[in-house]
Amino acid sequence: MSNVHLIDHPLVQHKLTLMRRKDASTNSFRRLLNELALLMAYEVTRDMPMQTIEIETPLETTTGQVIDGKKLVFVSILRAGNGILEGMLSVVPGARVGHIGLYRDPKTLTAVEYYFKMPTAMHERDVIVVDPMLATGNSAIAAVDRLKEIGPKSIKFVCLLTCPEGIAAFQKAHPDVPIYTAAIDRQLNEHGYILPGLGDAGDRIFGTQ
Ligand code: URA
Repeated sequence: MSNVHLIDHPLVQHKLTLMRRKDASTNSFRRLLNELALLMAYEVTRDMPMQTIEIETPLETTTGQVIDGKKLVFVSILRAGNGILEGMLSVVPGARVGHIGLYRDPKTLTAVEYYFKMPTAMHERDVIVVDPMLATGNSAIAAVDRLKEIGPKSIKFVCLLTCPEGIAAFQKAHPDVPIYTAAIDRQLNEHGYILPGLGDAGDRIFGTQ
């Protein structure tokens, strides 16, 4: 599948399997998600632009490569996206954060926006949109639609889990936006949940069920 990056590192797969278990506590689910997000951040930031700066070591002057973390924006699709933010920010602490509030209409499964707040000067920034589940694709598509209206330099999408239906819908709408995921599951069920999946990511992160 082009433009889909499957992050199959053993540490990622191990933690994902532990998270899927229905008896994983809220505490351990959240901790594992945090660790997973940190590991996924390595992959998704792999091609971040670097600049060369001059530094002094204790012995001499040399040059080194650094990233400008402030140019990066993590955009969380509320509320489950927030579960990924902490891990990502622990790797790029200078990154900015935007939020998009979308909820799924339970009948139509379409995304309805209730909040949108981004940093300034988005046209200078690279955006990484985070949401644990790319299921129907409706929220992800709506979020990227909105972001494209304000024209950031680039957009990537990161999720923990997706499925063929979610990928197809997202790529139809946004073929230019790469998807980074830890797994491509079998299918969606009639309620828009991923199978085998891990249940409702928001409820599992925040202990609301
Ligand atoms: N959102 C979730 O939290 N879980 C799914 O399986 C699909 C969408």
